[in-house]
Amino acid sequence: MPTISKKSAKKAWAGAIAEPGKEFPLTQLPIISGKIPDGLRGTLYRNGPARLERGDQRMGHWFDGDGAILAVNFTDAGATAVYRYVQTTGYKEEAAAGKLLYGNYGMTAPGVFWNQWLKPVKNAANTSVIALPDKLLALWEAGFPYALDLQTLETKGEDDLGGLNKGLAYSAHYKRDPRTGEIFNFGITPGLNARLHLYKSDATGKIIQKAAYSLDGIPIVHDFALAGQYLVFCIPPVRLNFFPVLLGSNYSDALEWQPQLGTQILVFDRQTLSLVSRSEAEPWFQWHFVNGYLDANGLLIVDIARYEDFQVNQYFKEVPTGESHTAAQSTLTRIHLQPQTGKVTTIERIVDRHCELATVPQQNVGQASRYTYFCSFRKGTEIGKEILNAIARFDYQTETLVEANLKENLYNSEPLPVQDAQNPDLTWVISTIYDGNSHSSEVWVFDGDRLDEEPVCKLALPSVIPHGFHGTWNPA
Ligand SMILES: [Fe+2]
Repeated sequence: MPTISKKSAKKAWAGAIAEPGKEFPLTQLPIISGKIPDGLRGTLYRNGPARLERGDQRMGHWFDGDGAILAVNFTDAGATAVYRYVQTTGYKEEAAAGKLLYGNYGMTAPGVFWNQWLKPVKNAANTSVIALPDKLLALWEAGFPYALDLQTLETKGEDDLGGLNKGLAYSAHYKRDPRTGEIFNFGITPGLNARLHLYKSDATGKIIQKAAYSLDGIPIVHDFALAGQYLVFCIPPVRLNFFPVLLGSNYSDALEWQPQLGTQILVFDRQTLSLVSRSEAEPWFQWHFVNGYLDANGLLIVDIARYEDFQVNQYFKEVPTGESHTAAQSTLTRIHLQPQTGKVTTIERIVDRHCELATVPQQNVGQASRYTYFCSFRKGTEIGKEILNAIARFDYQTETLVEANLKENLYNSEPLPVQDAQNPDLTWVISTIYDGNSHSSEVWVFDGDRLDEEPVCKLALPSVIPHGFHGTWNPA
């Protein structure tokens, strides 16, 4: 167990990232309580920055950590799991050297000063995953995906999806249309003005259509929404200031909040990938969209996790130190806009509670969803000092919020809603849990309609899984 001295101001969550996550081979998971539902058969995949140090050096930002994938298989014979780092080229080089060699989003390359130009960025492959018929992709927004074996998680190498030219990026926040199987995604390439590349893939992941548009300056674009026949981007007023980077600053520190620019709204047609409208709205910041759809009046409805500024980046920078102090609250927010003009007609705050890593059931992506599941903070939590410790479900029909009641020093991951294979009215919500009291990790399965009750099943994992980002469910 990592030592956190009594005098330290560190909270229990710091235990999960005090040491790099430890890989484990395919292992049968003991059931701690309950029973695996009969209609839950398939694999949960999760990604996250599991290694935040190498040699005697700590990484500069939570986003810089090396990605490791957890796969949990739910079968008739119980649950098994495997945990593996993505063996990127940079990861293997650094492992062989026993020290960090590359820079990244929140750090410049160690060593001689010219390394910042020679080794500016390592593909961390740490943000999300997509399960394709013949491979799993570990995704990271500034580079190519890495392909892995769906069962063993063995890294096969970078994958161009049959359409990514050298230098292009494939973001972590793809959207898969549940009706057609088409996969939409984007990538940003830098330049005096960044380029937004749009990709459409068939159900195998193969890129079948591309388009590219110029943006103003170099903004941060992390996610977008599929909404009916449209793709919607909200470009926040954050711009990379290039001179500090030339002079040796890392990218994260060179990002500037410029609220006077407002938020740029870009609406694209999903069929042609052509620009439908481009407009401006009031300033806000979001990493994440929740979902989007076209309502009966032809208005676009887009839900986001909205911050009022970019302080959240400072909070994420503090996370790897194990001690954070910057409070950054986001709110589940609904934007109504006119697709043909991009004009925002209404902005509604939906729930007055912190909202991050929100999801809707896969079958509702791009369409109206009655429920949204998200991570929050338990009431009374000191937000800047803690990490996500509550799971909530918002019901748009009854406008009610139900919360999973986690105990002190327990921390959840992104909650993934999974439709039961036998009864479509049942939804299971899966989350990994770090228990800071016992320094262990577990997988919990909740009945989506009874989030405030005891989980229907708890499984023990062989080692601690550091706090992560995004996952997916691949039905058997
Ligand atoms: Fe994300």
